[in-house]
Amino acid sequence: MTYDLNDRTAVVTGAASGIGAEIALVLARSGAKVALLARRADRLAELAEKIVAEGGQALAVSADVTGDLTEAVEIIHTAFGRVDLVVNNAGVMLANPITEGRDDEWHRMIDTNVKGLLNVTKAFTEDLVEAGANGTADLVNISSVGAHLAFPNYGVYTATKAAVTHLSTNLRTEFGPLGVRVTNVEPGLVATELGDHMDNPDVDAHLEAWREQVPPLSPADIGDVIGFATSRPKQVNLRQLIVLPTVQV
Ligand SMILES: NC(=O)c1ccc[n+]([C@@H]2O[C@H](COP(=O)([O-])OP(=O)(O)OC[C@H]3O[C@@H](n4cnc5c(N)ncnc54)[C@H](OP(=O)(O)O)[C@@H]3O)[C@@H](O)[C@H]2O)c1
Repeated sequence: MTYDLNDRTAVVTGAASGIGAEIALVLARSGAKVALLARRADRLAELAEKIVAEGGQALAVSADVTGDLTEAVEIIHTAFGRVDLVVNNAGVMLANPITEGRDDEWHRMIDTNVKGLLNVTKAFTEDLVEAGANGTADLVNISSVGAHLAFPNYGVYTATKAAVTHLSTNLRTEFGPLGVRVTNVEPGLVATELGDHMDNPDVDAHLEAWREQVPPLSPADIGDVIGFATSRPKQVNLRQLIVLPTVQV
């Protein structure tokens, strides 16, 4: 489905694959100019080409959300001007028993999922506040239903997502009065590459078995929800969305 997002300018982090790519597609098909941000330049260029071929507007910006975003922001401003819709979607999920003591994984997840999200939010805060004072502005954070649940071996990942959900609740108390909507989205199981970076065969096998029991959502299902949420009238803020496959309990 498409929505009315004409005259909107978006940045989607983690747009190189999965949920982020589908969010970017629905926003672009709905009329928004979309900056695609992730590390893999080839994947971003491919998606930007697809969007442009469909008649949309997209810009591939290769950047790491954990690093200095000054240049990325400049590139986006030069091409598209002020941003009024930011989707913090970039994330990593690495799982291992806590007894393995994999602090390399813990740091990577905290750096990307929490500090990276804050870094991107900071980079576009001025844009969002200015946009909120003059029209519609959105900050969308992709958390996870895991923020509320116990998942053995995924303790640090789910803790980063609990941080995202809690941050969203609090950021909304500051951004809302400035006219900036904050929407926290908590997907359940979605078929993406997210689990492909894990290095423990037992954990992989468990995830695979779970996917067989619970047919996952498609990334486009989540993209559609974000298209809907960000196209509501300015005064309507869908602040918390838990989006699960129907059979996931
Ligand atoms: N799939 C699920 O079941 C599920 C459920 C709940 C929540 N989520 C959340 O949904 C979000 C998207 O994940 P996904 O499922 O679509 O998995 P994915 O396909 O692996 O997408 C993750 C994206 O984040 C980008 N990324 C990772 N580290 C980055 C960094 N340091 N800087 C910039 N970009 C970075 C990756 O691109 P590059 O590698 O090119 O940088 C990739 O495009 C994540 O926040 C995830 O936690 C997913």
